[in-house]
Amino acid sequence: MVMTDSQKCWLNGQIIPLPEAKVSIMTHSLQYGSGIFEGIRAYETSEGPAIFRLEEHVNRFMKTARIYMMDIGYTNEQIRDAIIETVRENNLKSAYIRPFAFYDDSKVGVSTYNKKISVFIGAFEFGKYFSNADAGLKCKISSLRRFDSSSLPTQAKGSGNYLNSVLAMKEARRSGFDEAILLDRNGMVAEGPGENIFLVRDGKLITPGEDSSILLGITRMSLLELARDMGIEVVERFVHREEIYVADELFFCGTAAEITPILNVDGVDIANGKVGPITRKIRDEFFNIVQGKEPKYSKWLTKAMAEIDG
Ligand SMILES: Cc1ncc(COP(=O)(O)O)c(C=O)c1O
Repeated sequence: MVMTDSQKCWLNGQIIPLPEAKVSIMTHSLQYGSGIFEGIRAYETSEGPAIFRLEEHVNRFMKTARIYMMDIGYTNEQIRDAIIETVRENNLKSAYIRPFAFYDDSKVGVSTYNKKISVFIGAFEFGKYFSNADAGLKCKISSLRRFDSSSLPTQAKGSGNYLNSVLAMKEARRSGFDEAILLDRNGMVAEGPGENIFLVRDGKLITPGEDSSILLGITRMSLLELARDMGIEVVERFVHREEIYVADELFFCGTAAEITPILNVDGVDIANGKVGPITRKIRDEFFNIVQGKEPKYSKWLTKAMAEIDG
């Protein structure tokens, strides 16, 4: 991730230089993790940057705001246009886009009553999330469980939700693994700290469903549709921990992680430690789509330049 002083961002309706977007150290959302956010990618295409599934990301951002009872003061349309404007203003070929709404108030106290809400959108160059994404990951089943909606809304991207992810990731990294896999409170497979998980067994694609305390990933939803279109059977169901070790193939997916193979879990090689054919096929097709090479899926892309000029 590269952020420079010459970059611009959108803050409360205005494009301003990034260094001017400042907050107090006592800001409520910094102190209590009360912000909400999205993570979106724009890919380089022959017609300029194309934002992947923009409407879906904006919808999830607005739903997160609703779940966290934050009146952010902008419509879906306004946030959508602001995202496009931010990508364009930064002259980016490709980008990671971060909409963020937060309590911009530094009075001490947990209450959010009458606190000002600010909305920020940043966009910056971003490469691979995992440096070894192509080679595949070594994962650990976390000793921490993924929270469920009796304590925090699993379907919302609230900043505070991510402390569960941060702890699971720390545990995995400190134990020599690349990433964690979290089980839900019942011991069923949920997801990674910032990724959904897919297994391949007997040619079928299997992924934990909505009742496994997962974030309903937009990449996950796209891959389910894509796999069906490719004639691959897909199943959303509870996944037992032991199924991980005997999977034919295993991979993470997400906006940041894209499609990243998992080749070892808890020291057990998956698919003999090699990237499997179904993962490869889906990954290749996914990258063709995001780069605008598959007209059938052009509806998933918003061309930032065309949108503003046209
Ligand atoms: C906890 C969690 N699960 C799954 C995902 C994947 O979701 P998406 O594909 O919408 O990025 C993310 C990333 O946003 C995440 O943070």
